[in-house]
Amino acid sequence: MTLDIEMKEQLIQRGLLARRWSYSPYSHYAVGAALLTRSGKIYDGVNVENAAFPSTICAERVAVFKAVSEGERQFTAIAVVTENGGSPCGGCRQVLAEFGLETLVILANADGKLTGEYALRDLLPDAFTPDKLTG
Ligand code: THU
Repeated sequence: MTLDIEMKEQLIQRGLLARRWSYSPYSHYAVGAALLTRSGKIYDGVNVENAAFPSTICAERVAVFKAVSEGERQFTAIAVVTENGGSPCGGCRQVLAEFGLETLVILANADGKLTGEYALRDLLPDAFTPDKLTG
């Protein structure tokens, strides 16, 4: 999926803004995500940690679940903003893959600098996708 640089910057800025709301008192690793739908809307998300550590949810999943819970299922790109340009975890890659492997994953650091971009397909080779259940 190609995206113009202005839209990439806009997504990064939304991820940066959202990141301020990260609830990460245990890891102190704040993550903000901004998910662009094909319909042109942007849903953001942050990681929300929990004293029962496994109950934590990642920023990317919050963004996807917010979008899906409002009827969106087609995603063009997601920006993920962390201190150091960290890449989405395996679980989040899988959740994104449910809705298509062409989603562009944009990584940025806390200065808002774009540090990497990948098609989801390249981050999750030989993905297990919905068609595997029917084909
Ligand atoms: N985290 C995310 O929000 N997204 C990822 O893809 C990687 C990890 C969060 C979970 C936890 O709150 C913190 O970062 C450290 O793992």
